[in-house]
Order: sequence, then structure tokens, then C-alpha cells
Amino acid sequence: MPTVLLKASSPNEKDQLFEVSSGEILFDQIEKLGRVLPHGCLAGSCGSCRIEILDGQDNLSSPSPVEKDTITHLEKTHPQKIIRLSCRVRILGDFTFRPLK
Ligand code: FES
Repeated sequence: MPTVLLKASSPNEKDQLFEVSSGEILFDQIEKLGRVLPHGCLAGSCGSCRIEILDGQDNLSSPSPVEKDTITHLEKTHPQKIIRLSCRVRILGDFTFRPLK
């Protein structure tokens, strides 16, 4: 089972490690384990569920055309970051991320 590390995004939070099922959507897996990530449409178009990949980007599914289009817009305001959408990305192995504000 892959492990996913959710890094704290504020001093009030702690890092959280999740054991997840391979091939599943990140948002769904984390929700199943009791943590609801920031989100909006859950369809890949609003960008509310954006996350920054800090490590293990090769262990994620390739972005669909819808996700790729949304990420392209987000990269304009978040240059230098590896951005994915938690409602679209599928887990293929271990990685580390945090919600991107
Ligand atoms: S929740 Fe809207 S793009 Fe993921």
C-alpha cells in the first residue's frame, strides 16, 4: 500500500501520514480516512483542491486534459511549484504534498 504524507500548512497543524490504495483518487482516499481536503466542484475545473507536490511526483497518474487545463491556469499565479488537483489525481505510489493556498 502506498503511503502519502500530508505536510502541515500552518503552525497549528501536524504532518499526517496515510496508507492509501493504489489507483484511487487522492481526495477520496484521504476523505475515507477522516480528513477532508479543501475542495469545490470535485470535477477538475475550479482549482479549489489544488495541492503542491513536494516529493514523489512520478508516483502520480498523468493529468487528464481537464486537470491539465486547470493546472495551466494555476501555474500562472504559482510559478515554480508542482501543482496537481486532489479531486483528479490518482495515487500510484508514495508521495508528499500539501494544500496550496
Ligand atoms: S474541487 Fe474543483 S478542481 Fe478539484
